[in-house]
Amino acid sequence: MSDITRRLAMTAALGAPALLGQSPNDTVRVAVIGLGTRGSHLLRQLADMPGVKVVALCDLDESRLAAAKQTAPGAETGTDFRRLIDRSQDIDAFVIATPVDTHKMIAIAALESGKHVYCEKPMSNTPEDVRVMVLAARSAKGIFQSGFQLRHDPNRRAAMDFVHSGAMGRVLFLQGYRHTGDLPRETAWYFDRARSGDNIVEQACHIIDLMVWAVDQPPLRAFGSGGINLYKDEPPGRTTMDNYAVIYEFPGDVRFEFSHIYFDPPGFSGIKERVYCANGAIDLQTATWMERGKKGAIKLDVPDPGKSADYRSLAVFIDNARARRTPLNNAESAARSTLVAMMGRKAIYEKRIVTWREMQG
Ligand SMILES: NC(=O)c1ccc[n+]([C@@H]2O[C@H](COP(=O)([O-])OP(=O)(O)OC[C@H]3O[C@@H](n4cnc5c(N)ncnc54)[C@H](O)[C@@H]3O)[C@@H](O)[C@H]2O)c1
Repeated sequence: MSDITRRLAMTAALGAPALLGQSPNDTVRVAVIGLGTRGSHLLRQLADMPGVKVVALCDLDESRLAAAKQTAPGAETGTDFRRLIDRSQDIDAFVIATPVDTHKMIAIAALESGKHVYCEKPMSNTPEDVRVMVLAARSAKGIFQSGFQLRHDPNRRAAMDFVHSGAMGRVLFLQGYRHTGDLPRETAWYFDRARSGDNIVEQACHIIDLMVWAVDQPPLRAFGSGGINLYKDEPPGRTTMDNYAVIYEFPGDVRFEFSHIYFDPPGFSGIKERVYCANGAIDLQTATWMERGKKGAIKLDVPDPGKSADYRSLAVFIDNARARRTPLNNAESAARSTLVAMMGRKAIYEKRIVTWREMQG
C-alpha cells in the first residue's frame, strides 16, 4: 500500500464520528415512525445502541406495531403520528421510515416540534416537496439527517476521501448500475410512481447520491430512456419502470452513465459504483482502485468498525443530535441528490434533455 493510501485510510478512520455511550447521562430518547421493512431494521439498530432509548413507536398498522414492540418492549405505541409529535416532551429525536410520499408531511411536523429528525431517503417524491422540506430544515431548532447511509459505509467513505484528495487526478467519468431482481410485490406503494417517485428516485438515489458527492456539484443536464419491458401490469396497476438508462453531464465535461434493471438473472445481478480519474479508477463499493497503465488492484486500507453502514448512519445521527452538528447527509445535500434523480426521471418521462436550472422551480 502506498503512503498516501495509508494516510488517507487513517484520516478516514480518525474522521469517523465517535460511536455512542461515552456519556451515560446523555441518553437520546427516540421515536420511530413507520415500522415496515426499513423501520423495523432501523429499530433493531437503535435498540442495540448505547446511549439511546427507544421511547415510542408509531405505525398505521397495528400488527407492525405489535411486532416492533418485541424489539422495544418499553416503548409506548400509537397509530397517529400527529398525536405522538404533539405530546413529544419526552422525545428528543424522530426516525421516519414511512413511504416516500409521506416524508414531507411527517418530517415537517417533527421538525416544527423542535426535535431532531432522521428521515429515510429519498427526501420526497416531488421537487416541490423537496424544496419545502429544505426550508423547514433550515429554520428548525433540531438537526435533519437523511437516510443516505452509504456515505457512512467505511469502504465508500475511504474511497471518496481518496477521490477528493486528488491522488487519482481529476474526475473524468462516473459509472453506476443497479441490476437486480424484482421488488417485493406485497409492498404496493413501491410500484406506484405517484407514491414512490419511481425507481430512479426511490431506489437509484443511493448511487446517484454517491456520484454527486464524488464531484460535489449538480449536473448541467440529463437525458435518458426507460419503460416497462417485462413486468407489464405486474403487479396489477404498476406504473414504475422496470428498466431505464440515463446519462448526466456535469461541469468539466464529466459524464455519469447509470442503468437500472429489475429482470437480471441472479448470476448477473449486482451494483456498480465506479469513478474514473486521470490517473486511475476506483470502485467505491469495494474501495479498490487501479492505477492507469499498471497491473493489479489496490485495496485501500479501510478500518473495520465492526458495524454496518445502517448502524453507523444512525449512530452518527445520534452524535450529531447531541452536538447539534450539521450532518454529512443534511437537508441540502439530500435535496440535491434527490433532485438529480428527479431530473433523470423527467428526462426519461419527457424524452428530452432536462437542465439542472429547470429543477430549481
Ligand atoms: N436507506 C435504505 O437503504 C432503505 C432501504 C429500504 C427502504 N428505505 C426507505 O424507507 C422508507 C420505508 O420503506 P419500507 O420498505 O420500510 O416501506 P414499508 O411499506 O415496508 O413500511 C412503511 C411503513 O410505514 C407505515 N406508514 C405509512 N404511512 C404512515 C403514517 N402516516 N404514519 C405512520 N406509519 C405509516 C406503513 O404502515 C408501513 O408499516 C422509504 O422511504 C424507503 O425508500 C430505505
